[in-house]
Amino acid sequence: MGFTAFLKRLAVPVCTGGFMVAGTTVLGLCTVYTDAAIVALIGGGCLVRELIGFAKYNGKEKLHGKTVVITGCNTGIGFETAKDLALRGGRIIMACRDMEKCEAAAKEIKDVTGNSNVLCKRLDLSSFDSVRTFCEDFNKNETRLDLLINNAGVMMCPKLLTQDGLEMQIGTNHFGHFLLTNLLLDKLKASSPSRIVVLSSRAHTRCKQISFDDINSEKSYDRMKAYAQSKLANVLHVKELAKRLEGQ
Ligand SMILES: NC(=O)c1ccc[n+]([C@@H]2O[C@H](COP(=O)([O-])OP(=O)(O)OC[C@H]3O[C@@H](n4cnc5c(N)ncnc54)[C@H](OP(=O)(O)O)[C@@H]3O)[C@@H](O)[C@H]2O)c1
Repeated sequence: MGFTAFLKRLAVPVCTGGFMVAGTTVLGLCTVYTDAAIVALIGGGCLVRELIGFAKYNGKEKLHGKTVVITGCNTGIGFETAKDLALRGGRIIMACRDMEKCEAAAKEIKDVTGNSNVLCKRLDLSSFDSVRTFCEDFNKNETRLDLLINNAGVMMCPKLLTQDGLEMQIGTNHFGHFLLTNLLLDKLKASSPSRIVVLSSRAHTRCKQISFDDINSEKSYDRMKAYAQSKLANVLHVKELAKRLEGQ
C-alpha cells in the first residue's frame, strides 16, 4: 500500500470521535474528505468495534523520510497518534503549548518506539503570535511537511477569551488551526502527496449553523454550543480545503 493510501486509512487508528481529511493531493487519487454524517457514523462504529476488540489497524506502512506535525499531542488521541506514527519511522514534530508536558510525552514516545526523531515545538493555538512564531520557525528550518494533524482541542470550558479576544473554543479549535494550516500550506503543497487531518467531533451536529452575528458568543455563552460551533467550523474548514486543494 502506498503512502497516500495509507493516509486515507489513517482514519482507523485515530478515529474515536470524528475526523476529517483534506488532501493537497496527487498520484491520480481523488482528494479525500469524508461527509460529516459518515464521519460520525465511522467514529461511533470504530469505538464500538474497538470495545469489542477488532478495530485495530494493523497496516505495516512506514513513514521514513516523512515529516508529521501534530498539534496538542502530549496526551489523549494526539499522543496515541504521535506514538503510532513514530513507530512507523516518521519525523514527528509535537506542537504543544506546555513544553514540560511535551518533553515528558516525547521521551515516552522515544523510549517506546526507539525513534529519536521526535521533536517538541511550542505552539499555543489560542495566540496568533504563537502560531506565527511556530510557522516561521517551521518554514525556515524544516524541508518538508507530509502530514499535518490538527488535533488539539479545548472542550466545554468556561467562558474565556484567547489572547486575540476570540471566544476560547472557536478561537483555539478553529481559528488557531485555520491560521496554522494557511501558514504551512506552501510547505504541504511542495511536499505533495501530503495530507491535512482535522479532528472534528460528532458534537458538530448539535450546531446547525455558525452564528456569524455572534461568533464569540457574547450575547449568551453555552459551553456545549460553543464547542459544537467550533467543531462545525472544523468540518466546514476541511471540506473547503478539500475543494480548493483538489488536484494540487
Ligand atoms: N476524546 C473524545 O472522545 C473526542 C471525541 C470527539 C472529538 N474529539 C476531538 O479530538 C481531539 C483530541 O481530543 P482528546 O480527547 O485527545 O483531547 P485531550 O486529551 O483533552 O487533549 C487535548 C490536547 O490539546 C491541547 N491543547 C488545548 N489547548 C491548546 C492550545 N491553546 N494550544 C495548543 N494545544 C492545546 C492540550 O494541551 P494541554 O495538555 O496543555 O492542555 C492537549 O494536548 C480534539 O480536537 C477533540 O475535539 C475527541
